[in-house]
Amino acid sequence: RTVYVNGHFVPENEAEISVFDRGFLFADAIYEVTAVLNGRMVGFDGHMARLRRSLRELEMGLPTSDQRLREIHLELIDKNALQEGLVYMQVSRGAADRDFAYPAPGTPASLVMFTQEKSIIDSPVAERGLKIASLPDMRWSRRDIKTVQLLYPSMAKMEAKKRGADDAWLVESGLVTEGTSSNAWIVDNDNTLVTRELSRALLHGITRATVMALANSHDMKVEERGFTIKEAQNAREAFVTSSTALVHPVVAIDERPVGDGTPGPFARELRRLYIEASL
Ligand code: PDD
Repeated sequence: RTVYVNGHFVPENEAEISVFDRGFLFADAIYEVTAVLNGRMVGFDGHMARLRRSLRELEMGLPTSDQRLREIHLELIDKNALQEGLVYMQVSRGAADRDFAYPAPGTPASLVMFTQEKSIIDSPVAERGLKIASLPDMRWSRRDIKTVQLLYPSMAKMEAKKRGADDAWLVESGLVTEGTSSNAWIVDNDNTLVTRELSRALLHGITRATVMALANSHDMKVEERGFTIKEAQNAREAFVTSSTALVHPVVAIDERPVGDGTPGPFARELRRLYIEASL
């Protein structure tokens, strides 16, 4: 693979990042993952807007313009002949002597990007559906900032797998916040799509916003509110959204089948509409 590191396109085994990089030492870094379908990026402008917001919230500077970031993404897709998969982009506060205080202004941020091939449209999970385990949400309280502090979500995913599930939904004060790397949805008994309202408790998903717009334009009802695991288990359907999952149905939660235990019609239709709109 050819990857991008601080201004250079290099073979992955020649890429170098300082051991003093604050992303490495303090998880002082933010990231975005943009899906690539048919060689084209999906929702890039939304990812850029969220990146800028994460940078602002952490008082982190990045001199590179959105236009230049787009060019680097496109060049990487081209150099790696990527048809389907993702582009990962990470911005860290840069390298400096280890100190909890931020380095002096003017310390250059580090910017890293790479591509990863992944089968997204023909995902077996779309047919089979996900089994979910519920776990307490033990992440920090600024989940709206897309930082690389991913240890707890990673631990939660492993714990879910130990329990025979595919992934975890995280619960705080009795309500589902989101999945380990996706937003959580249910379809209630009134056929209303329900997903938690935006706040600092969860990531403001780009796919969530697109799916909400698609639902609205196809006369589906959408309500933004929290829901419990019990309500989700008793819902008609459940599903998740993310850039790389698109829409994945959820067929069981804590070993209880959701609906009839197979992917439901809303999840199937929204997935179809999303793919149609992205190609
Ligand atoms: N994760 N919630 C969390 C905690 C996430 O990590 C993600 C995305 C989402 C969905 O956001 P979006 O629709 O903008 O991709 C929600 C990416 C895909 C990842 O970490 O790989």
